[in-house]
Formats: sequence, C-alpha cells, structure tokens
Amino acid sequence: MTKPRVFVTRAIPERGLALVRDFCVADVWTDELPPPREMVLERVKGVDGILALLTDAMDSTVMDAAGSQLQVISNYAVGFDNVDVTEATRRGIPVGNTPGVLTDTTADLAFALLMAAARRVVEGDKFTRAGRWKTWSPTLLLGQDVFGATLGLIGFGRIGRAVARRARGFDMRVLYCDPFVAAADPCAAEVGAQAVDLDTLLRESDFVSLHTPLNAETHHLIGSDAMVKMKPTAVLVNTSRGPVVDPDALYTALKEGQIGYAALDVTEPEPLPPDSPLLTLENIVIVPHIASASVATRGRMAQMAAENLIAGLKGERLPHCVNPEVYG
Ligand code: DGY
Repeated sequence: MTKPRVFVTRAIPERGLALVRDFCVADVWTDELPPPREMVLERVKGVDGILALLTDAMDSTVMDAAGSQLQVISNYAVGFDNVDVTEATRRGIPVGNTPGVLTDTTADLAFALLMAAARRVVEGDKFTRAGRWKTWSPTLLLGQDVFGATLGLIGFGRIGRAVARRARGFDMRVLYCDPFVAAADPCAAEVGAQAVDLDTLLRESDFVSLHTPLNAETHHLIGSDAMVKMKPTAVLVNTSRGPVVDPDALYTALKEGQIGYAALDVTEPEPLPPDSPLLTLENIVIVPHIASASVATRGRMAQMAAENLIAGLKGERLPHCVNPEVYG
C-alpha cells in the first residue's frame, strides 16, 4: 500500500515524529525558524496531511495549495487560532489539537510568572549579575505578597482551573470570569473560586491571569479601558495568546503606573521586535512562549499530534478534533 504524504512544518519531538515517519512519507521542515509562507505553499502541494505549529497560518490559500486530497490538519498546540477552522470544516477537513496534556505545565508557568513579577525575581537576578549587590538593605527590591492576595482568572477552562488549584495552596482569594462557565460550577466550589463580572474582577484583583482562547471577542480584551479599572499595583499575567492584550495600551499602563507589573509568556507580535517599547520597561517579565515547554509535555503533545494526523489519514475520527461537525 502506498504511504500517505504529509508535510510537518517543524521537527517535533521524536516520540511523535517516529510515529509519523512509520506511517507516512514525511517531509519535515528541520530549520529552527518556521518555513516562510511561499515554502509552505510549495511543500504542501499534493499532501494528504499537514502537521502544523502555532506559527504557521493554515488558511484557505494553504488548503488550496495542498489540493482536494488533503484529509487532515493536525496542530501541535492546544490553541488553534492559526487554523481557519471554518474553512477546514467547509471542506470537510478535520482539525486536531493537543488539549489536556499541557494543562498543568502551562499552569506551572503562569504561577511562576506571577511569583516572578510579585517578588521581582528577574530584576533581582539582573541586579546581582550587574555587581550591584553591596549589602542587605531594608528597602531593596520590595515586592508584593502572593499569599492572601486576590487572583482574578479571565477564562476558567482547564488551565484557569489548574492555576486556581495552585492559588489555593497560597491561601489566595480566587475570582473568575468566564461566560461559558456556570456560577455554580463544581470545580469552582472545590477550589473556592467565585464567579464575578469582568469589571469586578479587574477592580478587585491583585493578580489578573489570562486563560482565554484568542478570537474576535477576546482580541485586545485587555486594552486601556480594562487597565484603568485595575489596581495601580496589579500584576497582569498572560499565558494565553499575545493579542488578547493590546501592547500599546500595556506599555502606557505600565509606564504611567495604571498597573504595577506584567508577566508575559505570549506577546503581539511574536517575537517582539528588538525595538519594542515594552523591552525598555523594568516592570515587565517576558519569556518566549514556553508555557508548555517541559520535556515530558512536549513529548506527549508530539504523540497526540501524530495520533491525530494518522487517524485523519486512516479516515478515522481524530482522538482530539476541534471541528467534530465534519463527522456529521
Ligand atoms: C498551545 O498549545 O496552544 C501553547 O500556546 C503552546 O503549547
């Protein structure tokens, strides 16, 4: 039997790649940087499946370039805002993602960012390396207490809930705002989280952590209107998608003391250009979209993405499909 042909837009961990290579004739883009758009359009020609990363736009032009035999798009991420799912659905192409396996790893990083911002860990490290640590000082690098503080979670899905569980260990008061979660949610009751509207959450939280998908409703959800409602000491944590926060408004809010600190795993754009004004600020910590980056989790994501791809190529239902409507 002829093996199906697939394009894999970057070298994912071997645990998934080995499965793909076993089942398919795989063209794997092995550069460190994503394939340029023209290269994607060239390499997808005639393939039966695509294993894509969040850096690769999978839109109608790519689907057209691939051709009508394209059977599946498997995204190596839980988020899938890079895929035009409506278009894939219209063509009957199932789209896979990797939910669940990265929940706790991402929540760990959200909490690490929250702690790093609260206790000024990165500033302290820079201070030490710069040879500026001369003595113990009563007023050096004073930060904020995390224990007992109020944490506001915008988005109370898998990752938001995992962050809430961590917050419980710090005796935090947890608020959440999520239009898709009932106020009487059993998990919220278990972790003692209280449903509130967005304004209340912004006004009352010492830490605001974002856990929403990126879509038309959440694009620039945190802009100047939202940030003026926040406490002047508030810490904003973003491990969701960069464009949920308006970067210009964030710069102004941090510079003018409308909010106290930001801790970002994701930015708009990604990566930030070297001359981004955000990089000139002291009251911000930025890491390069690494929330799911543990060895074990990236391996599990690779396996899931491979299994979705292979199921699609066999004409079977994807184990994790974001558009199950394609199955009628
Ligand atoms: C995702 O999966 O959506 C993350 O942003 C990367 O792991």
